[in-house]
Amino acid sequence: MKKRGKKAKQSSRQARLPHLAPSIPTLETPRLVLRPLELADAPQIQILFPQWEIVRYLRNAIPWPYPTDGALQYVRDMALPAIARSEAWHWTLRLRTEPKQVIGFISLIKGKTENRGFWMSPPWQGRGLMSEACDAVTDYWFNVLKFPVLRVPKAVANAASRRISEKQGMRVVATEERDYVGGRFLSETWEITAEEWHAHRKSAVRRTRDPKRHGV
Ligand SMILES: CC(C)(COP(=O)(O)OP(=O)(O)OC[C@H]1O[C@@H](n2cnc3c(N)ncnc32)[C@H](O)[C@@H]1OP(=O)(O)O)[C@@H](O)C(=O)NCCC(=O)NCCS
Repeated sequence: MKKRGKKAKQSSRQARLPHLAPSIPTLETPRLVLRPLELADAPQIQILFPQWEIVRYLRNAIPWPYPTDGALQYVRDMALPAIARSEAWHWTLRLRTEPKQVIGFISLIKGKTENRGFWMSPPWQGRGLMSEACDAVTDYWFNVLKFPVLRVPKAVANAASRRISEKQGMRVVATEERDYVGGRFLSETWEITAEEWHAHRKSAVRRTRDPKRHGV
């Protein structure tokens, strides 16, 4: 009898178990654990996410008012299937000191103009946590997924989000009006190439090793 190759066995197993997503690693930063999204996260997301402060500058594709099963629908019908198709990578954010509590969310998305999205629940904002998460997933985008460029649109009025892009060494490459949950706003597309990101990371390491030179 003819032996079946490893690849054939793998694909027939995947066909029988279509819910099996390609594995996404847990990522860690000094203060955070980024855990791959699971269906079981939906109830916590449903509690944290539907707040005006969070959705105002997110794309108007998000239903608003948010349905009572909005998080379940999103996780089950959109986010997990996109992970399974290797079109998106989603993580919940948790403090290392309190790993059961979801405090935010971050995504990487394949495509031309919108490759990363994130939100942080208000009590945990303003502590530099999303900056940490962004550095970890941006490393993943370039070093593991090996995409050549990362692009993110954001409302000009979204100062915290723009500041994160600025700190990461990104550049504005386009300005246009876009529709957000809070209305139609002037929006910028920020971009960074793999080469620029690697140079930015190297110079950040140099700054950390030589704090006096930069007056820290
Ligand atoms: C954007 C968001 C994720 C930032 O999360 P966060 O954990 O507070 O971010 P960080 O603390 O890592 O960094 C925010 C930076 O913006 C700065 N910032 C925050 N609010 C600001 C404001 N109103 N004006 C100028 N800078 C601001 C902070 O000082 C910090 O910069 P610094 O490190 O130089 O001090 C959070 O505000 C959020 O969830 N917003 C709603 C969802 C959203 O808009 N997502 C992005 C869509 S493009």
